[in-house]
Amino acid sequence: MTESLIFKPVTKDNFELAIKVQGEIFPHDNGSENIRASIDKKLFDRLYKKEHPFLTYWLVYLKDDPIGITGLYPYFSSPKDVWLSWFGVRSPWKRKGLGQKIFEWTKQEAQKRGFETLRLYTYPEEDLEAVAFYNALNLFEEPYTLEEETVPHKISIFSASLNGKPVQKWNNKNLYMKEQIDLETKANTKQD
Ligand SMILES: CC(C)(COP(=O)(O)OP(=O)(O)OC[C@H]1O[C@@H](n2cnc3c(N)ncnc32)[C@H](O)[C@@H]1OP(=O)(O)O)[C@@H](O)C(=O)NCCC(=O)NCCS
Repeated sequence: MTESLIFKPVTKDNFELAIKVQGEIFPHDNGSENIRASIDKKLFDRLYKKEHPFLTYWLVYLKDDPIGITGLYPYFSSPKDVWLSWFGVRSPWKRKGLGQKIFEWTKQEAQKRGFETLRLYTYPEEDLEAVAFYNALNLFEEPYTLEEETVPHKISIFSASLNGKPVQKWNNKNLYMKEQIDLETKANTKQD
């Protein structure tokens, strides 16, 4: 794949396409409220003001084709860490090295913003291709068990250093997963 990727920030002009791409890549996880909140200050304040300083997304294009999406958000409680949001590649474009390119671009974007660690969570018993991908990229894996009573999935956190130093563990600090899962469920109900 020699053509270069184009990263377009998600704005009021293209958020509907971003929601469509997210929904195609994650058919079981509805990220529409996250994407809407990233461009709507009122919604953002209502959902996230207490936990997150920002949430931002990019649509990824190969020529005119929106082939993927990526996003970033930190927590106020851990300002040197930034989290990957709804990162993925549409099915016809998988296994061509594009996921790795998008991931590396997102890492650089995070480095530019001064963060020291890029992290993400995944469901290791369900998201087998994601786990294979993060293992292939040598990310550090640790279990997240803080919310195991309320969240109906096993959760792994994967981390990549952005400053050349060894990765510091996340150590089970609160991810507010329950709130995110409730938001996804609510978004599904809205669409029905
Ligand atoms: C995970 C994902 C982003 C990978 O994107 P991709 O463009 O297919 O990945 P790449 O082609 O860059 O793969 C890089 C390496 O990762 C590994 N890998 C990627 N997908 C894999 C799979 N399904 N099975 C085994 N290994 C895999 C391979 O080692 C691959 O190198 P290779 O193709 O030379 O063997 C993509 O499968 C996806 O969007 N999945 C659905 C959404 C998702 O799970 N996102 C992550 C949420 S946390």
